[in-house]
Amino acid sequence: MKKRSSYWEDWHEQGPKVGLSKGAPQFQAANANLIIETTQIDSLATLGGISIVEFGPSTGELCKNLTNKYQTRIDNYTLIEDKRILETTRKNLEKHTQVEYCTIEDVEKCQPNKNYDLLISCGCLEETTNEYREFVHNNFFVAANEVFIIMMHGYEDQYEILLQKTLKENFKKVSDVVKVSHMASWPIYLHHAFK
Ligand SMILES: C[S@@+](CC[C@H](N)C(=O)[O-])C[C@H]1O[C@@H](n2cnc3c(N)ncnc32)[C@H](O)[C@@H]1O
Repeated sequence: MKKRSSYWEDWHEQGPKVGLSKGAPQFQAANANLIIETTQIDSLATLGGISIVEFGPSTGELCKNLTNKYQTRIDNYTLIEDKRILETTRKNLEKHTQVEYCTIEDVEKCQPNKNYDLLISCGCLEETTNEYREFVHNNFFVAANEVFIIMMHGYEDQYEILLQKTLKENFKKVSDVVKVSHMASWPIYLHHAFK
């Protein structure tokens, strides 16, 4: 297997743009509402057995909001995050037994043979390297029926161009990019697609 860059494993030491972040619970609650409005999760809930993967959940408030609402209708919810943050995330979600935790270092082991109804990234993938994004596209996007990605602009590398190209190649319905208004202090955009 190709050797990964140290940035993959030690992303948080690699520059001023990123750092250990606790996220913002009010934004995560607003993002949960946006997911309920935008995605197919409400109609899937009538059938149950929902499977979700989320990159960069921080403390897991978004996950908590969705699992509180849909409860046992969410069968599996996988969170991929830095191992030091995951300690807090686990405590925050200890009553939510369908949640699984995966560290960034173990991300290659956590996917095999899983399919997801929904893949979520809120403020995460744009903080990672192209190498990591490509890994996520090639292994997780292909296994996801729907993706919901909130992205902060202002990153010079223009990830949104690569993301839109990847969505168009892999998903049947790609929505227009929408500016999200509940985090008004900086520009945030929603990318959404399903197969
Ligand atoms: C800007 S915070 C967003 C947190 C939360 N999703 C929110 O909306 O408030 C980005 C999160 O992504 C995590 N993160 C950074 N690189 C990651 C990677 N390669 N894989 C998974 N999570 C990562 C960080 O630890 C951090 O919790």
